[in-house]
Amino acid sequence: MMKVIVVGTGYVGLVTGTCLAEIGHRVICIDKDEMKIEKLKRGISPIYEAHLEDMICRNIKEQRLSFSTDMKEVAEDTQVIFIAVGTPSLEDGDVDLSQVEEVAREIGKSLVSYGVIVNKSTVPVGSCVRVAQIIRQNLRKDISFDVVSNPEFLREGTAVYDTFHGDRIVIGSRSKKAVEVLRELYKPFHQKFFITNPESAELIKYASNAFLATKISFINEMANLCEKTGGDIRAVAEGMGMDQRIGNKFLQAGVGFGGACFPKDVKGLLKTGEKYGYDFKIIRQTLAVNEGQKQKPLRILEENIADWKGIKVGILGLAFKPGTDDVREAPALQIIKDLRGKGAQIRVYDPVANASMQSVLQFPITYCNNPYDAVTDCDAVILLTEWPEFQELNLRKIRRLMKRTIFIDGRNVFASEAMGEKGFDYYPMGIGSEETAQRKLKEGVVKVNESEKSNYTSGRTWN
Ligand code: UDX
Repeated sequence: MMKVIVVGTGYVGLVTGTCLAEIGHRVICIDKDEMKIEKLKRGISPIYEAHLEDMICRNIKEQRLSFSTDMKEVAEDTQVIFIAVGTPSLEDGDVDLSQVEEVAREIGKSLVSYGVIVNKSTVPVGSCVRVAQIIRQNLRKDISFDVVSNPEFLREGTAVYDTFHGDRIVIGSRSKKAVEVLRELYKPFHQKFFITNPESAELIKYASNAFLATKISFINEMANLCEKTGGDIRAVAEGMGMDQRIGNKFLQAGVGFGGACFPKDVKGLLKTGEKYGYDFKIIRQTLAVNEGQKQKPLRILEENIADWKGIKVGILGLAFKPGTDDVREAPALQIIKDLRGKGAQIRVYDPVANASMQSVLQFPITYCNNPYDAVTDCDAVILLTEWPEFQELNLRKIRRLMKRTIFIDGRNVFASEAMGEKGFDYYPMGIGSEETAQRKLKEGVVKVNESEKSNYTSGRTWN
Protein backbone atom coordinates (compact mmCIF):
# COMPACT_ATOMS: atom_id res chain seq x y z
CA MET A 1 0.00 0.00 0.00
CA MET A 2 1.36 3.44 -0.93
CA LYS A 3 0.30 6.99 -0.22
CA VAL A 4 -0.60 8.64 -3.50
CA ILE A 5 -1.58 12.22 -4.36
CA VAL A 6 -3.42 12.98 -7.60
CA VAL A 7 -3.55 16.63 -8.59
CA GLY A 8 -6.48 17.40 -10.91
CA THR A 9 -9.85 15.68 -10.60
CA GLY A 10 -10.79 15.81 -14.27
CA TYR A 11 -11.61 12.67 -16.14
CA VAL A 12 -8.06 11.27 -16.10
CA GLY A 13 -7.15 12.23 -12.51
CA LEU A 14 -10.39 11.09 -10.95
CA VAL A 15 -10.48 7.75 -12.74
CA THR A 16 -6.79 7.08 -12.00
CA GLY A 17 -7.08 8.09 -8.33
CA THR A 18 -10.23 6.07 -7.75
CA CYS A 19 -8.88 2.94 -9.44
CA LEU A 20 -5.63 3.17 -7.43
CA ALA A 21 -7.70 3.35 -4.24
CA GLU A 22 -9.70 0.36 -5.43
CA ILE A 23 -6.53 -1.75 -5.61
CA GLY A 24 -5.62 -0.80 -2.03
CA HIS A 25 -3.59 2.42 -2.10
CA ARG A 26 -4.33 5.42 0.08
CA VAL A 27 -5.19 8.18 -2.40
CA ILE A 28 -5.84 11.89 -1.92
CA CYS A 29 -7.26 13.69 -4.95
CA ILE A 30 -6.57 17.43 -4.97
CA ASP A 31 -8.29 20.13 -7.00
CA LYS A 32 -8.51 23.88 -6.58
CA ASP A 33 -12.20 23.82 -7.53
CA GLU A 34 -13.80 23.88 -4.07
CA MET A 35 -17.32 23.08 -5.27
CA LYS A 36 -16.09 20.00 -7.09
CA ILE A 37 -14.14 18.79 -4.05
CA GLU A 38 -17.13 19.35 -1.75
CA LYS A 39 -19.31 17.23 -4.04
CA LEU A 40 -16.66 14.54 -4.37
CA LYS A 41 -16.36 14.32 -0.59
CA ARG A 42 -20.06 13.42 -0.63
CA GLY A 43 -19.46 10.81 -3.31
CA ILE A 44 -20.86 12.82 -6.22
CA SER A 45 -18.85 12.46 -9.44
CA PRO A 46 -18.59 15.54 -11.71
CA ILE A 47 -18.43 13.30 -14.79
CA TYR A 48 -20.41 10.32 -15.90
CA GLU A 49 -18.27 7.20 -16.28
CA ALA A 50 -19.59 3.68 -15.94
CA HIS A 51 -18.88 2.28 -12.41
CA LEU A 52 -17.00 5.41 -11.29
CA GLU A 53 -19.42 6.88 -8.76
CA ASP A 54 -19.99 3.54 -7.01
CA MET A 55 -16.27 3.05 -6.77
CA ILE A 56 -15.74 6.56 -5.37
CA CYS A 57 -18.37 5.98 -2.66
CA ARG A 58 -16.98 2.57 -1.71
CA ASN A 59 -13.40 3.82 -1.39
CA ILE A 60 -14.39 6.90 0.61
CA LYS A 61 -16.26 4.62 2.99
CA GLU A 62 -13.33 2.25 3.32
CA GLN A 63 -11.06 5.25 3.95
CA ARG A 64 -8.71 4.72 1.05
CA LEU A 65 -9.93 7.72 -0.97
CA SER A 66 -10.24 11.33 0.16
CA PHE A 67 -10.44 14.76 -1.46
CA SER A 68 -8.84 18.07 -0.67
CA THR A 69 -8.07 21.53 -2.07
CA ASP A 70 -4.82 21.80 -0.16
CA MET A 71 -1.39 20.91 -1.56
CA LYS A 72 -0.16 20.62 2.03
CA GLU A 73 -1.46 17.05 1.82
CA VAL A 74 1.90 16.38 0.11
CA ALA A 75 3.41 15.44 3.47
CA GLU A 76 6.31 13.27 4.59
CA ASP A 77 4.97 9.86 3.64
CA THR A 78 3.77 10.56 0.04
CA GLN A 79 5.48 8.23 -2.41
CA VAL A 80 3.82 9.14 -5.70
CA ILE A 81 2.30 12.41 -6.94
CA PHE A 82 0.34 12.42 -10.17
CA ILE A 83 -0.07 15.53 -12.29
CA ALA A 84 -3.39 15.06 -14.06
CA VAL A 85 -4.55 18.58 -14.88
CA GLY A 86 -5.88 19.80 -18.22
CA THR A 87 -3.66 20.51 -21.22
CA PRO A 88 -6.04 22.25 -23.65
CA SER A 89 -5.18 23.38 -27.18
CA LEU A 90 -4.20 27.01 -27.70
CA GLU A 91 -5.59 28.99 -30.66
CA ASP A 92 -2.61 27.98 -32.84
CA GLY A 93 -2.87 24.24 -32.01
CA ASP A 94 -0.02 24.39 -29.48
CA VAL A 95 -0.56 22.81 -26.05
CA ASP A 96 -1.35 25.07 -23.09
CA LEU A 97 0.95 23.84 -20.32
CA SER A 98 0.12 26.58 -17.81
CA GLN A 99 -1.85 24.29 -15.45
CA VAL A 100 0.90 21.64 -15.45
CA GLU A 101 3.52 24.30 -14.74
CA GLU A 102 1.44 25.76 -11.91
CA VAL A 103 1.11 22.32 -10.28
CA ALA A 104 4.86 21.69 -10.70
CA ARG A 105 5.56 24.95 -8.80
CA GLU A 106 3.18 23.88 -6.02
CA ILE A 107 4.78 20.44 -5.80
CA GLY A 108 8.23 22.02 -5.59
CA LYS A 109 7.09 24.16 -2.66
CA SER A 110 5.35 21.28 -0.87
CA LEU A 111 7.83 18.40 -1.31
CA VAL A 112 9.38 17.28 1.98
CA SER A 113 10.87 13.89 1.10
CA TYR A 114 11.76 11.81 -1.97
CA GLY A 115 8.78 11.33 -4.27
CA VAL A 116 8.04 10.16 -7.79
CA ILE A 117 6.18 12.83 -9.71
CA VAL A 118 4.18 11.32 -12.55
CA ASN A 119 3.10 13.27 -15.63
CA LYS A 120 -0.25 11.68 -16.45
CA SER A 121 -1.63 14.62 -18.40
CA THR A 122 -1.03 14.43 -22.15
CA VAL A 123 1.98 16.69 -22.50
CA PRO A 124 4.33 17.39 -25.42
CA VAL A 125 7.74 15.76 -25.63
CA GLY A 126 10.20 17.50 -23.34
CA SER A 127 7.64 18.17 -20.58
CA CYS A 128 9.22 15.81 -18.02
CA VAL A 129 12.44 17.79 -18.22
CA ARG A 130 10.49 21.05 -17.96
CA VAL A 131 8.47 19.87 -14.93
CA ALA A 132 11.66 18.69 -13.19
CA GLN A 133 13.26 22.11 -13.77
CA ILE A 134 10.27 23.93 -12.27
CA ILE A 135 10.12 21.64 -9.23
CA ARG A 136 13.85 22.08 -8.62
CA GLN A 137 13.55 25.87 -8.81
CA ASN A 138 10.78 25.84 -6.20
CA LEU A 139 12.17 23.35 -3.65
CA ARG A 140 12.45 24.72 -0.13
CA LYS A 141 15.34 22.42 0.74
CA ASP A 142 17.57 19.96 -1.09
CA ILE A 143 15.31 16.95 -1.71
CA SER A 144 15.74 14.31 -4.38
CA PHE A 145 12.81 13.45 -6.65
CA ASP A 146 12.14 11.91 -10.06
CA VAL A 147 9.73 13.00 -12.76
CA VAL A 148 8.28 10.20 -14.85
CA SER A 149 6.08 10.15 -17.94
CA ASN A 150 3.20 7.69 -17.60
CA PRO A 151 0.58 8.44 -20.26
CA GLU A 152 -2.95 7.05 -20.11
CA PHE A 153 -4.88 5.48 -22.97
CA LEU A 154 -8.38 5.65 -21.51
CA ARG A 155 -11.46 6.01 -23.64
CA GLU A 156 -14.35 8.12 -22.44
CA GLY A 157 -17.25 5.98 -21.26
CA THR A 158 -15.06 2.92 -20.62
CA ALA A 159 -12.28 4.63 -18.64
CA VAL A 160 -12.66 2.46 -15.51
CA TYR A 161 -12.71 -0.75 -17.55
CA ASP A 162 -9.70 0.46 -19.56
CA THR A 163 -7.73 1.22 -16.37
CA PHE A 164 -8.13 -2.38 -15.23
CA HIS A 165 -7.69 -3.94 -18.68
CA GLY A 166 -5.12 -1.74 -20.43
CA ASP A 167 -2.91 -3.25 -23.14
CA ARG A 168 0.21 -1.78 -21.52
CA ILE A 169 1.47 0.56 -18.83
CA VAL A 170 4.02 2.90 -20.39
CA ILE A 171 6.66 4.32 -18.04
CA GLY A 172 9.19 6.83 -19.30
CA SER A 173 12.06 7.36 -16.87
CA ARG A 174 15.84 7.25 -16.60
CA SER A 175 15.63 6.47 -12.87
CA LYS A 176 15.62 2.79 -11.86
CA LYS A 177 14.32 3.76 -8.44
CA ALA A 178 11.28 5.59 -9.90
CA VAL A 179 10.51 2.71 -12.26
CA GLU A 180 10.52 0.28 -9.34
CA VAL A 181 8.13 2.50 -7.36
CA LEU A 182 5.67 2.57 -10.28
CA ARG A 183 5.98 -1.16 -10.93
CA GLU A 184 5.03 -1.72 -7.30
CA LEU A 185 2.18 0.80 -7.48
CA TYR A 186 0.60 -0.81 -10.54
CA LYS A 187 1.37 -4.45 -9.67
CA PRO A 188 -2.24 -5.40 -8.75
CA PHE A 189 -3.41 -4.44 -12.27
CA HIS A 190 -1.39 -7.37 -13.71
CA GLN A 191 -0.61 -5.54 -16.92
CA LYS A 192 2.39 -5.51 -19.24
CA PHE A 193 4.94 -2.80 -18.49
CA PHE A 194 6.74 -0.95 -21.22
CA ILE A 195 9.71 0.94 -19.85
CA THR A 196 11.46 3.56 -21.93
CA ASN A 197 12.93 7.05 -21.65
CA PRO A 198 10.63 10.03 -20.87
CA GLU A 199 10.79 11.52 -24.37
CA SER A 200 9.72 8.25 -26.01
CA ALA A 201 6.90 7.75 -23.49
CA GLU A 202 5.63 11.27 -24.18
CA LEU A 203 5.71 10.59 -27.90
CA ILE A 204 4.00 7.17 -27.56
CA LYS A 205 0.84 8.87 -26.31
CA TYR A 206 0.67 11.34 -29.22
CA ALA A 207 1.76 8.73 -31.75
CA SER A 208 -0.97 6.30 -30.62
CA ASN A 209 -3.76 8.85 -30.85
CA ALA A 210 -2.49 10.32 -34.13
CA PHE A 211 -2.14 6.82 -35.62
CA LEU A 212 -5.70 5.86 -34.64
CA ALA A 213 -7.00 9.16 -36.03
CA THR A 214 -5.08 8.48 -39.24
CA LYS A 215 -6.63 5.02 -39.46
CA ILE A 216 -10.06 6.68 -39.31
CA SER A 217 -9.20 9.29 -41.94
CA PHE A 218 -7.79 6.54 -44.16
CA ILE A 219 -10.95 4.47 -43.96
CA ASN A 220 -13.04 7.59 -44.59
CA GLU A 221 -11.10 8.30 -47.78
CA MET A 222 -11.54 4.67 -48.82
CA ALA A 223 -15.26 5.11 -48.13
CA ASN A 224 -15.38 8.12 -50.43
CA LEU A 225 -13.68 6.07 -53.14
CA CYS A 226 -16.13 3.19 -52.54
CA GLU A 227 -19.04 5.51 -53.26
CA LYS A 228 -17.59 6.30 -56.66
CA THR A 229 -16.44 2.82 -57.61
CA GLY A 230 -19.34 0.67 -56.42
CA GLY A 231 -17.54 -0.74 -53.36
CA ASP A 232 -19.01 -1.20 -49.91
CA ILE A 233 -16.71 0.18 -47.20
CA ARG A 234 -18.08 -2.21 -44.59
CA ALA A 235 -16.91 -5.17 -46.68
CA VAL A 236 -13.63 -3.47 -47.58
CA ALA A 237 -12.92 -2.76 -43.89
CA GLU A 238 -13.83 -6.28 -42.88
CA GLY A 239 -11.63 -7.79 -45.54
CA MET A 240 -8.73 -5.51 -44.61
CA GLY A 241 -9.21 -6.10 -40.90
CA MET A 242 -8.79 -9.86 -41.29
CA ASP A 243 -5.11 -9.19 -41.91
CA GLN A 244 -3.73 -9.26 -38.38
CA ARG A 245 -1.10 -6.68 -39.27
CA ILE A 246 -3.94 -4.23 -39.93
CA GLY A 247 -6.46 -5.35 -37.30
CA ASN A 248 -10.21 -4.88 -37.46
CA LYS A 249 -10.57 -1.94 -35.02
CA PHE A 250 -10.95 1.74 -35.88
CA LEU A 251 -11.99 1.02 -39.44
CA GLN A 252 -15.52 2.32 -39.18
CA ALA A 253 -16.22 4.96 -41.80
CA GLY A 254 -18.38 7.92 -40.86
CA VAL A 255 -18.67 11.67 -40.51
CA GLY A 256 -15.26 11.94 -38.86
CA PHE A 257 -13.66 11.76 -35.44
CA GLY A 258 -14.21 14.20 -32.58
CA GLY A 259 -13.78 14.28 -28.82
CA ALA A 260 -11.39 15.86 -26.37
CA CYS A 261 -8.33 13.85 -27.46
CA PHE A 262 -7.90 13.03 -31.14
CA PRO A 263 -8.24 16.54 -32.63
CA LYS A 264 -6.19 18.10 -29.81
CA ASP A 265 -3.42 15.50 -29.89
CA VAL A 266 -3.12 15.43 -33.68
CA LYS A 267 -2.74 19.23 -33.68
CA GLY A 268 -0.31 18.98 -30.77
CA LEU A 269 1.92 16.52 -32.64
CA LEU A 270 1.85 18.70 -35.74
CA LYS A 271 2.94 21.63 -33.57
CA THR A 272 5.76 19.59 -32.03
CA GLY A 273 6.96 18.83 -35.56
CA GLU A 274 6.90 22.55 -36.43
CA LYS A 275 8.84 23.49 -33.29
CA TYR A 276 11.55 20.93 -33.99
CA GLY A 277 11.69 21.74 -37.70
CA TYR A 278 9.75 18.76 -39.03
CA ASP A 279 6.66 18.91 -41.24
CA PHE A 280 4.51 15.91 -40.30
CA LYS A 281 2.73 15.56 -43.64
CA ILE A 282 0.56 12.52 -42.99
CA ILE A 283 -1.15 13.85 -39.90
CA ARG A 284 -1.66 17.23 -41.56
CA GLN A 285 -3.76 15.32 -44.09
CA THR A 286 -5.45 13.30 -41.30
CA LEU A 287 -6.87 16.57 -40.00
CA ALA A 288 -7.73 17.92 -43.46
CA VAL A 289 -9.59 14.72 -44.39
CA ASN A 290 -11.49 14.85 -41.10
CA GLU A 291 -12.58 18.43 -41.76
CA GLY A 292 -13.81 17.40 -45.22
CA GLN A 293 -15.64 14.43 -43.76
CA LYS A 294 -17.58 16.64 -41.35
CA GLN A 295 -18.79 18.67 -44.35
CA LYS A 296 -20.05 15.60 -46.17
CA PRO A 297 -23.70 15.73 -44.97
CA LEU A 298 -23.98 19.33 -46.14
CA ARG A 299 -22.53 18.43 -49.55
CA ILE A 300 -25.11 15.65 -49.93
CA LEU A 301 -27.90 18.06 -49.00
CA GLU A 302 -26.62 20.70 -51.42
CA GLU A 303 -26.76 18.18 -54.25
CA ASN A 304 -30.37 17.41 -53.40
CA ILE A 305 -31.86 20.71 -52.29
CA ALA A 306 -32.05 23.60 -54.74
CA ASP A 307 -34.05 26.07 -52.67
CA TRP A 308 -33.14 26.24 -48.98
CA LYS A 309 -36.05 28.48 -48.03
CA GLY A 310 -38.01 26.90 -45.16
CA ILE A 311 -35.85 23.74 -45.15
CA LYS A 312 -36.01 21.73 -41.92
CA VAL A 313 -33.31 19.25 -40.93
CA GLY A 314 -33.53 16.73 -38.08
CA ILE A 315 -30.37 15.54 -36.38
CA LEU A 316 -30.18 12.26 -34.48
CA GLY A 317 -27.19 12.12 -32.14
CA LEU A 318 -25.00 15.01 -30.96
CA ALA A 319 -22.31 13.37 -28.78
CA PHE A 320 -18.93 12.70 -30.45
CA LYS A 321 -19.55 8.98 -29.84
CA PRO A 322 -22.17 6.87 -28.06
CA GLY A 323 -22.02 6.39 -24.29
CA THR A 324 -21.11 9.98 -23.43
CA ASP A 325 -22.73 13.42 -23.28
CA ASP A 326 -19.49 14.99 -24.52
CA VAL A 327 -19.86 17.21 -27.60
CA ARG A 328 -16.31 18.57 -27.67
CA GLU A 329 -15.16 18.71 -31.32
CA ALA A 330 -18.16 16.54 -32.19
CA PRO A 331 -18.97 16.46 -35.93
CA ALA A 332 -22.49 17.61 -34.91
CA LEU A 333 -21.10 21.05 -33.94
CA GLN A 334 -19.69 21.73 -37.40
CA ILE A 335 -22.71 20.30 -39.17
CA ILE A 336 -25.18 22.37 -37.14
CA LYS A 337 -23.16 25.53 -37.86
CA ASP A 338 -23.05 24.71 -41.60
CA LEU A 339 -26.81 24.11 -41.70
CA ARG A 340 -27.48 27.34 -39.89
CA GLY A 341 -25.27 29.10 -42.46
CA LYS A 342 -27.67 27.78 -45.10
CA GLY A 343 -30.65 29.14 -43.20
CA ALA A 344 -32.09 25.70 -42.34
CA GLN A 345 -34.30 25.15 -39.30
CA ILE A 346 -32.64 22.57 -37.09
CA ARG A 347 -34.27 20.04 -34.76
CA VAL A 348 -32.05 17.74 -32.71
CA TYR A 349 -32.29 14.76 -30.40
CA ASP A 350 -29.62 12.98 -28.38
CA PRO A 351 -30.43 10.56 -25.53
CA VAL A 352 -28.00 12.38 -23.19
CA ALA A 353 -26.17 15.23 -24.94
CA ASN A 354 -28.95 17.78 -25.63
CA ALA A 355 -27.96 19.82 -22.56
CA SER A 356 -24.22 19.87 -23.30
CA MET A 357 -24.91 21.00 -26.88
CA GLN A 358 -27.22 23.72 -25.59
CA SER A 359 -24.47 25.00 -23.28
CA VAL A 360 -21.92 25.42 -26.09
CA LEU A 361 -24.06 26.64 -29.00
CA GLN A 362 -24.36 30.42 -29.23
CA PHE A 363 -27.65 30.31 -31.16
CA PRO A 364 -31.03 28.64 -30.66
CA ILE A 365 -32.08 25.36 -32.30
CA THR A 366 -34.95 23.06 -31.34
CA TYR A 367 -34.02 20.41 -28.77
CA CYS A 368 -36.40 17.43 -28.78
CA ASN A 369 -37.13 14.81 -26.14
CA ASN A 370 -37.42 11.93 -28.55
CA PRO A 371 -36.20 11.03 -32.05
CA TYR A 372 -39.66 11.13 -33.61
CA ASP A 373 -40.20 14.71 -32.53
CA ALA A 374 -36.82 15.63 -34.03
CA VAL A 375 -37.68 14.29 -37.51
CA THR A 376 -41.25 15.65 -37.67
CA ASP A 377 -41.87 17.73 -40.80
CA CYS A 378 -38.21 17.54 -41.76
CA ASP A 379 -36.94 17.60 -45.34
CA ALA A 380 -33.87 15.62 -44.30
CA VAL A 381 -32.58 13.62 -41.34
CA ILE A 382 -28.91 13.19 -40.47
CA LEU A 383 -27.77 10.51 -38.03
CA LEU A 384 -24.48 11.50 -36.40
CA THR A 385 -23.98 9.22 -33.36
CA GLU A 386 -24.53 5.46 -33.43
CA TRP A 387 -26.49 5.19 -30.16
CA PRO A 388 -27.75 1.60 -29.80
CA GLU A 389 -31.33 2.88 -29.33
CA PHE A 390 -31.32 4.21 -32.92
CA GLN A 391 -31.16 0.64 -34.19
CA GLU A 392 -34.59 0.12 -32.64
CA LEU A 393 -36.18 3.12 -34.36
CA ASN A 394 -39.52 2.60 -36.03
CA LEU A 395 -38.33 3.60 -39.49
CA ARG A 396 -41.78 3.50 -41.08
CA LYS A 397 -42.96 5.99 -38.47
CA ILE A 398 -39.93 8.20 -39.15
CA ARG A 399 -40.64 8.10 -42.87
CA ARG A 400 -44.31 9.02 -42.25
CA LEU A 401 -43.41 11.93 -39.99
CA MET A 402 -40.89 13.45 -42.42
CA LYS A 403 -41.89 15.90 -45.13
CA ARG A 404 -39.28 14.70 -47.63
CA THR A 405 -37.26 11.51 -47.75
CA ILE A 406 -33.54 12.31 -47.46
CA PHE A 407 -31.87 10.21 -44.75
CA ILE A 408 -28.10 10.64 -44.28
CA ASP A 409 -26.68 7.86 -42.13
CA GLY A 410 -23.39 9.31 -40.92
CA ARG A 411 -22.48 6.13 -39.00
CA ASN A 412 -23.82 3.34 -41.26
CA VAL A 413 -26.37 2.12 -38.72
CA PHE A 414 -28.95 0.84 -41.21
CA ALA A 415 -29.04 -1.46 -44.25
CA SER A 416 -29.37 0.22 -47.65
CA GLU A 417 -31.96 -2.19 -49.09
CA ALA A 418 -34.27 -1.90 -46.07
CA MET A 419 -34.07 1.89 -46.13
CA GLY A 420 -34.80 1.96 -49.86
CA GLU A 421 -37.81 -0.35 -49.38
CA LYS A 422 -39.19 1.97 -46.71
CA GLY A 423 -39.10 4.82 -49.18
CA PHE A 424 -36.07 6.79 -48.00
CA ASP A 425 -33.50 8.41 -50.25
CA TYR A 426 -30.80 6.82 -48.19
CA TYR A 427 -27.21 8.11 -48.03
CA PRO A 428 -24.89 5.89 -46.00
CA MET A 429 -21.13 6.52 -45.80
CA GLY A 430 -19.03 4.69 -48.39
CA ILE A 431 -21.53 2.40 -50.04
CA GLY A 432 -21.51 2.73 -53.80
CA SER A 433 -23.55 1.17 -56.58
CA GLU A 434 -22.65 -0.20 -59.99
CA GLU A 435 -24.69 2.52 -61.73
CA THR A 436 -22.86 5.32 -59.94
CA ALA A 437 -19.56 3.64 -60.73
CA GLN A 438 -20.38 3.63 -64.46
CA ARG A 439 -21.48 7.26 -64.33
CA LYS A 440 -18.42 8.39 -62.37
CA LEU A 441 -16.14 6.62 -64.82
CA LYS A 442 -17.76 8.53 -67.71
CA GLU A 443 -17.52 11.84 -65.83
CA GLY A 444 -13.78 11.47 -66.09
CA VAL A 445 -10.54 11.82 -64.28
CA VAL A 446 -9.86 13.98 -61.24
CA LYS A 447 -7.05 16.38 -62.03
CA VAL A 448 -4.21 15.88 -59.61
CA ASN A 449 -2.14 18.96 -59.06
CA GLU A 450 1.07 18.45 -61.11
CA SER A 451 3.42 19.36 -58.27
CA GLU A 452 1.68 16.97 -55.90
CA LYS A 453 1.81 14.26 -58.54
CA SER A 454 5.54 14.68 -59.05
CA ASN A 455 6.00 14.14 -55.31
CA TYR A 456 4.92 10.58 -55.59
CA THR A 457 5.97 9.72 -59.11
CA SER A 458 9.56 10.84 -58.65
CA GLY A 459 10.18 8.24 -55.96
CA ARG A 460 12.10 5.07 -56.70
CA THR A 461 10.08 2.33 -58.40
CA TRP A 462 10.68 -1.34 -57.87
CA ASN A 463 9.57 -2.96 -61.11
C1 UDX B 1 -9.45 8.27 -27.59
C2 UDX B 1 -8.48 7.08 -27.54
O1 UDX B 1 -9.15 5.91 -28.03
C3 UDX B 1 -7.95 6.86 -26.14
O2 UDX B 1 -6.99 5.81 -26.14
C4 UDX B 1 -7.31 8.16 -25.65
O3 UDX B 1 -6.81 8.03 -24.33
C5 UDX B 1 -8.32 9.30 -25.72
O4 UDX B 1 -8.80 9.42 -27.06
P1 UDX B 1 -12.01 8.72 -26.96
O5 UDX B 1 -11.76 10.13 -27.35
O6 UDX B 1 -12.73 8.44 -25.68
O7 UDX B 1 -10.61 7.93 -26.81
O8 UDX B 1 -12.83 8.06 -28.13
P2 UDX B 1 -12.70 6.87 -29.20
O9 UDX B 1 -13.60 5.79 -28.79
O10 UDX B 1 -11.29 6.54 -29.47
O11 UDX B 1 -13.33 7.59 -30.49
C6 UDX B 1 -12.82 8.83 -30.98
C7 UDX B 1 -13.59 9.31 -32.21
O12 UDX B 1 -13.29 8.51 -33.34
C8 UDX B 1 -15.12 9.29 -32.08
O13 UDX B 1 -15.63 10.50 -32.61
C9 UDX B 1 -15.54 8.11 -32.92
O14 UDX B 1 -16.84 8.27 -33.47
C10 UDX B 1 -14.47 8.12 -34.01
N1 UDX B 1 -14.26 6.79 -34.62
C11 UDX B 1 -13.72 5.77 -33.88
C12 UDX B 1 -14.59 6.58 -35.96
O15 UDX B 1 -15.07 7.50 -36.65
N2 UDX B 1 -14.36 5.35 -36.51
C13 UDX B 1 -13.81 4.32 -35.80
O16 UDX B 1 -13.62 3.25 -36.38
C14 UDX B 1 -13.48 4.54 -34.44
